Amino acid sequence: MSDAIETEEHEPGTGAEDEPRREPQLDPEQAARREAALRHVRVFGDPALKTVARPVERFDDELRAEVERMGRLMIDAYGIGLAATQLGVLHRVLVYRVELDSPVAALVNPEIEWSSDEREPLEEGCLSLPGVLVDVERPVHVRVRARDPGGEEVVVEASGLEARVIQHELDHLDGVLILDRTSRGERKEALRALRERLEADERAVA
Ligand code: NI
Repeated sequence: MSDAIETEEHEPGTGAEDEPRREPQLDPEQAARREAALRHVRVFGDPALKTVARPVERFDDELRAEVERMGRLMIDAYGIGLAATQLGVLHRVLVYRVELDSPVAALVNPEIEWSSDEREPLEEGCLSLPGVLVDVERPVHVRVRARDPGGEEVVVEASGLEARVIQHELDHLDGVLILDRTSRGERKEALRALRERLEADERAVA
């Protein structure tokens, strides 16, 4: 699941490694907007993705503008979650939207307060890892304490896809990628697919 579109229409528990990458069906205008948004998203190899982000200390207009921008880029990119580090902003901020048409949720300085012993593997993608889908096992339920962009404390009890997206984005804030959370075999395979994809993209713009 996570922040990439590929997994958005994926039924929980049916993750199959051999499924082809699903690209969203977009009209040319949507495709152009997605392309433009993705240009702001750091991809594998960028040091920001390996950096532990700093807690936010000032809940000001600048932070709210940052959160708004993140939400806009996530929607334009057809992602279901985005962490600030993916944009090269080293703040502990994440946004997500599990249900299409629901408002964007934003968590500042999120911390997992509790997670269930019950865990579940599911295929995840990531906007920063184009072409990669790997199985990641995570707790099914979590309770997260955070601040909203206005500085108010919030507690989120999440299950299923919402819990998964929050954990995926929180990992980003700690410099952790899904490649670090999958089996060695899948990691190796994913790195190969990623290299091919990045080389193809390079050729496309050259
Ligand atoms: Ni991601």
